[in-house]
Amino acid sequence: MPDINRAVVLAARPQGAPVESDFRIEQRPIAKIAQGQILCRNLFVSLDAGFRNWMDEDSGDNVLPAMPLGEPVMGLTLSQVLDSRHPEYREGEYLMARFAWEEYTLTDAGDFISRLPAEPRAPLSHYLGVLGDTGLSAYFGLTDHGRVQPGETVLVSAAAGAVGSIAGQIARIYGARAVGIASGADKCAQLIDVLGYDAAVDRTAADIDAALQRACPDGVDVYFDNVGGPLLEHVLDQINEDARILLCGAVASYSATEPLPGPRNLFQLTTKHASMHGFMTHLQLARYDEARAVLGGWIDEGRINVPEHRLDGIDNVGRAFCDLFRGANFGKSVVAL
Ligand SMILES: NC(=O)c1ccc[n+]([C@@H]2O[C@H](COP(=O)([O-])OP(=O)(O)OC[C@H]3O[C@@H](n4cnc5c(N)ncnc54)[C@H](OP(=O)(O)O)[C@@H]3O)[C@@H](O)[C@H]2O)c1
Repeated sequence: MPDINRAVVLAARPQGAPVESDFRIEQRPIAKIAQGQILCRNLFVSLDAGFRNWMDEDSGDNVLPAMPLGEPVMGLTLSQVLDSRHPEYREGEYLMARFAWEEYTLTDAGDFISRLPAEPRAPLSHYLGVLGDTGLSAYFGLTDHGRVQPGETVLVSAAAGAVGSIAGQIARIYGARAVGIASGADKCAQLIDVLGYDAAVDRTAADIDAALQRACPDGVDVYFDNVGGPLLEHVLDQINEDARILLCGAVASYSATEPLPGPRNLFQLTTKHASMHGFMTHLQLARYDEARAVLGGWIDEGRINVPEHRLDGIDNVGRAFCDLFRGANFGKSVVAL
């Protein structure tokens, strides 16, 4: 059994967007396993922009406590049980868990943990992406709250990212016209060529309203919002009657140094009898297997393409996290350890 761990610790609280020097690698001894514990090898680390919120001293919410400075950074991992003294876990089984950015985790297994099937149906890293929290966010958001109808226009922000890359493809499976927002001409071209979006909007365009109108000539029926911030206000001006705004995330605000102004045009919701709905996917843990079966079926049928932004080694975990905030990823960001 291993006795030395390498972990990424929070060296400094990020000021604005995270930078590589906010993180450092530390070696730590692994304690002897005790009754009721499991020792896991972390095979993949998932990079999730939302965890930036808990790197501040006061996260301002009650989802997770603020991460302590000098301690391993909390995240999501795809892990394998190496040794088990816990009645519910077997050696060799795969878990998706809320573990730290480290090579090994010794735990009493009280963390947020979802089991993979004994015979995983897809590459293991997919259980952090399309079959994990991000793909399931796209699925639950559009299915439960979006109630997407054929012929509707579904607009997705951060459309090339982990959630967005799957959301656009699900919208098309439901018969909608999918429009994605991303930064830069190259990424926008890839939205159409790789992910099958019908149209793309560059969020850095000089006239974002005109760009949205060109891409959504019939207005917006469902806005799958991963970004929040000023973009939300621009999109609200384009919504149709009975539109559904799905608040999946607000990456624009995670690294903002001042609170971002809210949309000034919420009255649009009134006049268009539209709705806004926020949701937290991990609260649907009991439905993960059901949703994975549907998504897995679509992957098997070749209806969903699964891009990954994949780096290797614990030394690259901090960099991969920073990539999310400079828009450098296309698809789900993972690091293989
Ligand atoms: N509700 C839930 O349960 C749940 C679960 C998982 C994730 N989420 C949320 O879903 C959202 C997407 O997560 P993800 O893992 O799929 O991330 P991601 O989209 O893979 O990566 C983040 C993307 O956001 C865009 N971005 C970064 N900074 C931005 C800024 N200041 N303004 C506008 N766009 C910016 C970048 O794309 P471009 O540069 O191409 O625009 C970047 O590639 C996040 O807000 C996350 O917190 C929610």
